[in-house]
Amino acid sequence: LCAASEPPVTGTFVHSTPRAAVEILQNCVLGVDDKGKIAFIEKHQDVVSLSEIWGFETSDIRQLGQYEFLMPGMVDTHIHASQYSYAGTALDLPLLEWLNTYTFPVEAKYKDLDFANDVYTKVVRRTLKNGTTTACYFATIHTDASLLLGELADRFGQRALVGKVCMDYNSYPNVKPVVTPRFAPSCSSSLLSELGEIANNNKLHVQSHISENKEEVELVKTLFPGCKSYTDVYLKHNLLTDRTVMAHGCHLTDEELEIFRETGSAVSHCPNSNISICSGMLNVRNVLNHNVKLGLGTDVAGGYSPSMLDAMRRTLDTSKALTIQDPQHKTLSFEEVFRLATLGGSEALSLDDQIGNFVVGKDFDALRVNVCVPDGPIDLFPGEGPKVRQSSYWSFLPSY
Ligand code: GUN
Ligand code: ZN
Repeated sequence: LCAASEPPVTGTFVHSTPRAAVEILQNCVLGVDDKGKIAFIEKHQDVVSLSEIWGFETSDIRQLGQYEFLMPGMVDTHIHASQYSYAGTALDLPLLEWLNTYTFPVEAKYKDLDFANDVYTKVVRRTLKNGTTTACYFATIHTDASLLLGELADRFGQRALVGKVCMDYNSYPNVKPVVTPRFAPSCSSSLLSELGEIANNNKLHVQSHISENKEEVELVKTLFPGCKSYTDVYLKHNLLTDRTVMAHGCHLTDEELEIFRETGSAVSHCPNSNISICSGMLNVRNVLNHNVKLGLGTDVAGGYSPSMLDAMRRTLDTSKALTIQDPQHKTLSFEEVFRLATLGGSEALSLDDQIGNFVVGKDFDALRVNVCVPDGPIDLFPGEGPKVRQSSYWSFLPSY
């Protein structure tokens, strides 16, 4: 649905705004200009005047089915494309041992471009199939294979930030490089400084990991004794900017979250991974209360599922687990989690001027959801409105 000059679409649109976690727009018509940007989104009754203004035939309008709606494409703010080949396995070790035993040996194989081509093709196609229209990828240290990942994302029509550190390949409009220090324990101070400089001089995105598990936090203290905190390590190396997204952050203190807010840096919440390799439980409510930008990530293969729908469900599960531990904790609603997977992700990647919801001037980046396909996974009952359908979609739609 991202192609330009599509005829307008009418029906139900579901999206988030800063004010409403979920806004359901019924009987609306949306038009896209020849650059793929949303030109208008209005009540259907205005269709005749819209057709005169925008020069389309009302007979060309496409009508969504009774059980269909459009929602913004989902944004995976943290996924290791290079780890997709072993997703769903190797979840029996904590982070640092897990990296040494499973991750580093697999990532070494990406010097072979045939291997890279096979896995990267599969991960891009699979995540698109699961509704991820934008992904922030970690590749590996291999330049050629990282470039190939960017090429594949472009070919299959996925917007992407692709991280192999220290490179610049701006030739695809929807694929950009992201400066990617793996995490503080695997980078020297001089490497971090150079990367900070490259990111700032070229106004590039930055991604890394932070405070994922407690052992890692302790290790960073011993490796960077001059720094007040894990956050301070990245701050001192000029890596915290309003284009930075840091994965996990389970063990960040309130003081560190304040630094995130001041610098405009974002957190990528990866709940499947946090539970799968027993790293911790991020208190998303606390992060949001600090006005820190937050999106969701699958973190394949620490997280075993490449589906953003899974990331949404796990976000709710973790929030409910925190409420079980502390009844004062204000559980996230499914509407809030929908916003985190769409608009929140776009903010976390500083792409909210382009994507995230249905606003005039943004790119038309949408998923068409039909909850009533033959042999589909949902049973509908009489009298269900779109909101119920929306939540059923959440509860029952399988992820692949
Ligand atoms: N920290 C450093 N590298 C990694 C990685 O590949 N996965 C996860 N989950 N955490 C990391
Ligand atoms: Zn990760």
